[in-house]
Amino acid sequence: MLHLRKSINTKKYWGSLLQSGKWGKGQEYLYTSIAKLFSKKKITILDIGCANAFGTMALKNKLKNATIDACDFSKEAISNAKKKFGMNIDFFVHDVAKDKLKNKYDYILMIETLEHLDNPDKIVKKYLKCCKNMIVIVPYNETESDEHVYSFDEDSFSNFKEFLKYAIFTIPGTDLEMIIYIFESNNV
Ligand SMILES: C[S@@+](CC[C@H](N)C(=O)[O-])C[C@H]1O[C@@H](n2cnc3c(N)ncnc32)[C@H](O)[C@@H]1O
Repeated sequence: MLHLRKSINTKKYWGSLLQSGKWGKGQEYLYTSIAKLFSKKKITILDIGCANAFGTMALKNKLKNATIDACDFSKEAISNAKKKFGMNIDFFVHDVAKDKLKNKYDYILMIETLEHLDNPDKIVKKYLKCCKNMIVIVPYNETESDEHVYSFDEDSFSNFKEFLKYAIFTIPGTDLEMIIYIFESNNV
C-alpha cells in the first residue's frame, strides 16, 4: 500500500459530514454485491466504519439469518443509525485506532473505510484476531482524493498469511474502480 498524505480523518470531520443522516444513501451497491459471499447459515457479522448504515441495512435485508453488529467512531453516525435501523442491527461507537472489541465474529467487514485510516496494515492485523473471515473493499489504485491516506493495489496484502484472494471491479454506472480483499483467519 502506498502512503499518500497526512490524514484529515477526524471525528469532527466525519461528524459534520454524517450528522444530517443523509450521507451514504447510494452506498448500498458495495454491500448488496457481496451478499453472495456469505454462508446462508446463522452467521455473525461486524461492519466497521458503518457511517449512517444504509449499506449495512441493505446487507441485512439480503441476509435475514445473519446477526449483524455495526460500529463507527462517529457518535453522530451511530445515533442516526440507531434511530433508523436499531431494530435490526446492534450499533456501537468504536474507534479502530484505540478501542478493543468485546465480541468475536464470523465475518468482519471494512467497506470504503481502510483508505481513510493511518496504519491500515496494523488495523487489518488487529481485526483478523477477532474473526474467521475479513472482507475489505477500498478504491483501487486511487491517489487523487484528499480524504484518502493510502492507495491500494493487487499486492497490498500479499504478505499476510491470512490473505486469500482479491478481485478488481467497477461500480456500475461509474468509472470508480474498487478492489476487494478476502482474508481467512483461524483465530476464532
Ligand atoms: C467513507 S465512510 C464509509 C462508510 C460505509 N462503510 C459505507 O461504505 O457507506 C468511512 C467511515 O469510516 C469511519 N471512520 C473513520 N475513522 C474511523 C476510526 N478510527 N474508527 C472507526 N470508524 C472510523 C467514518 O466515520 C466513516 O463513517
